[in-house]
Amino acid sequence: MTELTPVTEATATQAPQPRKLAVPDAQTVTEVKHFTDRLFSFRCTRPASMRFRSGEFVMIGLMAINEKTGKEKPLLRAYSIASPSWDEELEFYSIKVQDGPLTSRLQHIEVGDQIILRPKPVGTLVHDALLPGKRIWLFATGTGFAPFASLLREPQTYEDYDEVIITHTCREVGELTYGRDLIEALKTDELLNEVIGEGFWKKIKYYPTTTREESPKMGRITDLMRKGEAFKDLGVPVINQESDRAMVCGNLAFNLEIKEMLEEYGLEEGANSDPKHYVVEKAFLD
Ligand SMILES: Cc1cc2nc3c(=O)[nH]c(=O)nc-3n(C[C@H](O)[C@H](O)[C@H](O)COP(=O)(O)OP(=O)(O)OC[C@H]3O[C@@H](n4cnc5c(N)ncnc54)[C@H](O)[C@@H]3O)c2cc1C
Ligand SMILES: NC(=O)c1ccc[n+]([C@@H]2O[C@H](COP(=O)([O-])OP(=O)(O)OC[C@H]3O[C@@H](n4cnc5c(N)ncnc54)[C@H](OP(=O)(O)O)[C@@H]3O)[C@@H](O)[C@H]2O)c1
Repeated sequence: MTELTPVTEATATQAPQPRKLAVPDAQTVTEVKHFTDRLFSFRCTRPASMRFRSGEFVMIGLMAINEKTGKEKPLLRAYSIASPSWDEELEFYSIKVQDGPLTSRLQHIEVGDQIILRPKPVGTLVHDALLPGKRIWLFATGTGFAPFASLLREPQTYEDYDEVIITHTCREVGELTYGRDLIEALKTDELLNEVIGEGFWKKIKYYPTTTREESPKMGRITDLMRKGEAFKDLGVPVINQESDRAMVCGNLAFNLEIKEMLEEYGLEEGANSDPKHYVVEKAFLD
């Protein structure tokens, strides 16, 4: 077990000090899985009083030393909760940025370590922000899959929609593994099969694509939709306001491009206080 040690934003990659800190809002890591040299997931304990809606994000992090004051303070970043609202634990799906102040360290956590979790969930990728519809599209690039890992395990997603389409565009095949495994596991998910009904997972249409490594479906989802290829592959009509709802989570350029396309299809952006046809959230700040 690695002890939680202070880091500075500038010296985040330096060797840890072997000393344990008193951590505010501490939660204990219960599982860590590495997928590629840039991606990993982990689970941790959940505060007993913490409530959230599937799709929301929280601030998590580690203790760091403020270079100017020399004092310890939490180094926090926004993270989508990848587990559903009913789960006893919390799950996160994370990038590893080699010189990133937080993830250069976070990528080394082990079972038994502590992380900081501010239990104040917020976000727009929630069912409450959408009007009823027939089909929901979940559009992700990279770690933008995280909020959808939560929503895909949320019973309401299948109660509210006849069809659930999840598109995930990544550079390389290995970057699809977390999402692919999660969707495969839904087939034998006892709780969802019991609550929603056997075979609920047949409502899911999974559309993974890669852009820089050979895979069965190559290309950006935006291009595949413009060409009509994605709709043809999925066997669904072009997106329209009457039947389709969408949630978008990816890099800034992707979000902007999809947003423009959805508006062209006649969808309007919703919010918690004003539910409409689609919602968008950044997977990270560029
Ligand atoms: C609303 C919101 C939700 C987020 N949810 C997640 C999540 O579920 N999982 C997650 O890994 N990150 C998520 N992020 C990004 C996260 O907050 C941090 O940026 C990330 O953990 C890297 O932290 P860092 O301190 O190591 O580097 P930072 O200084 O924060 O980032 C350094 C650079 O790394 C790149 N980068 C940062 N995050 C990512 C990423 N996720 N994918 C690809 N490149 C990235 C960017 O170019 C950024 O400028 C989210 C961000 C926002 C705004
Ligand atoms: N993934 C890696 O192997 C890798 C390795 C080292 C460093 N990095 C750096 O890490 C950062 C994040 O990389 P990332 O791969 O996680 O995320 P990313 O660059 O946001 O790319 C994720 C996926 O989204 C696609 N995409 C990008 N813009 C799009 C748009 N406007 N419309 C539709 N699809 C779009 C990309 O396709 P395209 O490939 O066509 O852009 C890629 O398949 C980048 O700064 C990158 O330079 C990444």
